[in-house]
Parts: sequence; structure tokens; C-alpha cells
Amino acid sequence: MAREFTRVGVVGLGTMGAGIVEVFARNGLDVTAVEISEAAVERGRVTLTGSTDRAVAKGKLAEAERDALLARVDFRVGLDALHNVDLVIEAVPEHLDLKQRIFAELDRVCKPEAILATNTSSLSVTEISVATSRPNQVIGIHFFNPAPVMKLVEVVRTVVTSADVVADVEALCERLGKVDVTISDRAGFIANALLFGYLNHAVGMFEARYATREDIDAAMKLGCGLPMGPLALMDLIGLDTAYEILDTMYRRGGRDRRHAPAPLLKQMVTAGLLGRKSGRGFYTYERPGSPKVVPDEYTPPAGDAALADGARGIAKVGVVGSGTMATGIIEVFAKAGYEVISVTRGAEKSAKVCEAVKTSLNKGVVRGKLSETDRDAALGRITWSATLDHLADVDLVVEAVIEELSVKKALFASLDEICKPGVVLATTTSSLPVIDVAMATQRPADVIGLHFFNPAPIMPLVEIVQTIRTSAETSATARAVCAKLGKTGVVCGDRSGFIVNALLFPYLNDAVKMLEASYSTADDIDYAMKLGCGYPMGPFELLDVVGLDVSLAIQRELYLELREPGFAPAPLLEHLVTAGYLGRKTGRGFRDHTRR
Ligand SMILES: NC(=O)c1ccc[n+]([C@@H]2O[C@H](COP(=O)([O-])OP(=O)(O)OC[C@H]3O[C@@H](n4cnc5c(N)ncnc54)[C@H](O)[C@@H]3O)[C@@H](O)[C@H]2O)c1
Repeated sequence: MAREFTRVGVVGLGTMGAGIVEVFARNGLDVTAVEISEAAVERGRVTLTGSTDRAVAKGKLAEAERDALLARVDFRVGLDALHNVDLVIEAVPEHLDLKQRIFAELDRVCKPEAILATNTSSLSVTEISVATSRPNQVIGIHFFNPAPVMKLVEVVRTVVTSADVVADVEALCERLGKVDVTISDRAGFIANALLFGYLNHAVGMFEARYATREDIDAAMKLGCGLPMGPLALMDLIGLDTAYEILDTMYRRGGRDRRHAPAPLLKQMVTAGLLGRKSGRGFYTYERPGSPKVVPDEYTPPAGDAALADGARGIAKVGVVGSGTMATGIIEVFAKAGYEVISVTRGAEKSAKVCEAVKTSLNKGVVRGKLSETDRDAALGRITWSATLDHLADVDLVVEAVIEELSVKKALFASLDEICKPGVVLATTTSSLPVIDVAMATQRPADVIGLHFFNPAPIMPLVEIVQTIRTSAETSATARAVCAKLGKTGVVCGDRSGFIVNALLFPYLNDAVKMLEASYSTADDIDYAMKLGCGYPMGPFELLDVVGLDVSLAIQRELYLELREPGFAPAPLLEHLVTAGYLGRKTGRGFRDHTRR
């Protein structure tokens, strides 16, 4: 028989604690909510009422339910109020000594049978538990931010947590409508161990001025379908909390340099820029605690005028190549009103590309997204050719041929001879250095990367890759073109992986390493990232879709260019590729797709 929980306690009503109180009270539990002072209690109360009022306004909670929910919460100052709770969860700042002190006190105050839980993200639950005389009743219950919304809870069992306590807490999670994964006590558990290296890397990119905060965040949202960009997420987590989590993970998790907090984080925390809770972090918010971002001195000017500043006029576009990307890109340009010359290596290939573009446009018509007139107009704008000489008078060339440097360099050398002065020459490479193709021409200032995502007609993102020789005019032209295509162009430097792949693939590789270390299963890791962080796919689902060979190649490139030991490809990934398990395309990758 699972234990009956009637009254629970929550210690600390900050970012997480206030949300955890709401989760409990919403599910019929009485809650004693404890803070350190009257002022802090008041802050917690305001957060809770704000959140429940928003739920009422959105029609997700009836007024009477809200009132009943609030009536279940007893706000108090001091831990003594917790003498009659069946379970208490602590959500105070991420410092081991503070948590140990609180647990020693809880051990003294709470009933002998009460379960003592911590919401720590990175500290050792075992070390916290030994501050009490009942370590077998101490457990980690790691909620995700915002607690009322995110479905996942990581239940952290130490070597001494008793089995019935684990079972009781798992049953409680179910009652709360959460999905739990039960794991052992390791720094960062599943989700944070995979998340924080990525977040810290994104801060490092911003700190190095590799890209703007807006562009880094837009890249990850639009390129990977994430609910928030990494810097906006850091602001939501709280930069002080994020700093402590990284610092602990660095020390506990094998001193992986990727967890050494980016120096900028420390500076921001010292300056009181803690994220949403203080009203300012990477972004500026309407007021402390508000989710609404307001413009500040770093906000880029809005509007087409700003984009067009210094841009060259583009009317005629050449697209070279006959693969998936070239086909999609031809369609995108033609639909946006550009005159397009498609160049392939022969009439047969041109006919195939033409067919593919027609099929795709027809699909748009069937789905009601494109009128027949617009389809015909788009097709009418495309000229099919098999000779590069036809690109003599285009204003922009987009190259999307095979991903081989020698082929691309030869092509750019030819374009240099054929094209008129002032043309912008763009490559869609996803892994080669843009500067290599730029230097194959006599006009490197006019060369830029335009990294479209697959499928190009659907994916809203384009990475605009500037080399150290790209001119401001070329870059402005690329930005204006992306805007006209209805895409979000994000500008970055010419480094392996640009923004998206550089941030995405090390995370995927880390997930493989976690599986390899038998810390958790592929299913639980996928769950953790989907339900804890709102990712559209878990890492193993995504790896199987992208292809393990492609993923390994990208990871190798990143490792070779950045020489970051933590980027070394996971041996398990190498072995699967060697075995021919490449993902969906071969029927088997991390999962066997032939049996589903
Ligand atoms: N922020 C996140 O996204 C997130 C997600 C999951 C878990 N966590 C973990 O949750 C815990 C809390 O993090 P947070 O972001 O909510 O921090 P926070 O700084 O927003 O809130 C901490 C609260 O604890 C209160 N507090 C401090 N000392 C106290 C005491 N002795 N008694 C009672 N209350 C006290 C503070 O007044 C503050 O309101 C940390 O362990 C963190 O790692 C955070």
C-alpha cells in the first residue's frame, strides 16, 4: 500500500518553490509553504497568485478552483511550521552547506516517518542526506521549470534511499500528473547533464561575440524547434542558479571544461543581472519576475529599412545543384518573386529537379497554401539550364552541390570567371569553411554562407555565415534576401557547425555517452528531454532521423576544429556507424525501426 500524503511542505518559494507549491495544491494536497522572512513569503505569495490568475485568465482553471487551491496553502516563516507534514521538499539556493543545514533542521522538526526531499539540480543527494539521521528517507525530486507546466520529474535515489520511499514518491508523482524517471545520484541527473553543457556553450558564443543573443536564440528555436533559445532559458532558470549548477557539475562531473561557467556568467551574477527574476539578464524584462522582454540598448533596429541598409538590389538568382537542398532553394526563391536560373549537370537532372519542384508546389496548392496562379507564376520564373555560362548576369548565386571542398572550390573558381562584378556568391555548405571557397575566387568580399535547413521550403531559418573577408555590403544583402524569402536570417562567424550544429551535436553526443555509461535508457533520456525541457524529439529519436553517419561526421568536424576533449565522438556512435546501423534510413540505429 502506497503511503497517503495529506500535508506536504515546501521550503523556499523562489523560481522553483512557488511553482512546486502550485503543483501540490492544484492536486488536492495541503501545503505548508515556508520562507526565510515575511518579505520572502510575500514574494512567494505574489508569484503563486500571479501564476494561478494567469491560469484563470487563460481558461485553464476555474475561479472556484483557484480559490480552493490558494486556501490549501499555509504560508509561514521558519522551518518549525513543518512539524506535521508527511513529506517536505526543499527548493532553496543551490549551495551544499545551506541545504545540509536545512536538512539537519528538518530532521529535528519533522515527524520521524516524514520523507525529506530535495529539488537540487546538481548537488549530491547523498551528501545532503547524511546531514540527517534518516538518510534512507531522503530522496531527490527534481521538478522542471516552470513546475506547473513541465511534465517530467526526475526521482533521484541514493544508495541508501529505501525502496518503499522510492515507490511512495513515484506514486505521488503520478498523483501530481507527472511522468517520473527514477535514476541514481549523479551530477545533473539526466536532463541537466545534457542541457548545461549546451547552455554554457551558448553563453560562450555570445561572450565571444560570435553571434548576437537574438540570433543565437532564434537559431535554436527555429533550427531545432526548441521552445526557447538557450539565453532566454538561462534568464528563466536564473543566472545565479545556473552558475551554481555549472560550478557543481564541473566539480562533480569529472571537471569537464564545458561545465566551467563562462566568465560572463559570474560577472552578470555579481552585477545583479540574474535573469527574469531580477528584471534583467541576457535580456531586459518589463519588471522583475515578468516574462515580457522589452527593448534595450542591444535590441537590433526593426524593419526592412534596417535590413536593406547597404544591401545590393537582387532580382535574378542562380541556383547550382540538383539535390534535395537545391530543389528546395529553387522553390523558395521562385515563390518569393525572384527570377531563378537553375543550373544542373545535364538536361536529365534538370528535368528531375523541375519535376520535384512542380510536385512540391502542387502539394502547396492541394493543402490550400498556394493558389494555382501563384504556383504557375513561380514556375514561370524558373529557367532550367545545364551550363554555368547562363549565370553571367545574375545578381546572386546560391551553390548547393555535393559537400566536397574540391568540387565547391572548382565551382567557385568558375563562377568567378563567369559572373558579373558585384554578384553575391553564396554557398550552402553545412560543414566546410566558407573562407576556403571564398579564396577560390578573386573576390572573397562577395562570398558568404547561406545555410538553409532541410526541407528548405518549410524550415524558417537560414544561417548567414560571414568569413573574415566578407564585406558588410554582402552581409547586408544576404540579410535583406532572407527577409524577402520570409526566413529568419541569423548572422554568425565561419566556424565549424555555425550556431545550430555546434550547439546541437555535442548535446546529442553527450546523450550517447550517457547511454554508453548505462546511466539511463534511451527511452528515459528521450522522455527527460521532451517532457523536462519541451524538446520536440528526444536525442535518440533525432539521431535516428538525422542519420548516425551524418551525426558522427559533424561531431568529428567539431572535435577537429575546436579540439575540445568533451567533443570527442562517443565510441558507441562510432561502433553503430561501423556496424551499418545508421538510423531510420537503414531501418536500425539506436532503435530497430523495422519492428515498429
Ligand atoms: N531555476 C530552475 O530552473 C531550477 C529547476 C529545477 C531545480 N532547481 C533547483 O531548485 C532549487 C531552488 O532554485 P531556484 O531557482 O528556485 O532559486 P531561487 O533563488 O529562485 O529561490 C530560492 C528561495 O529560497 C529561499 N531561501 C533561502 N534560504 C532559505 C531558508 N533557509 N529557508 C527557507 N527559504 C530559504 C530564498 O528566499 C528564495 O526565495 C535549487 O536547488 C535549484 O538547483 C532550479
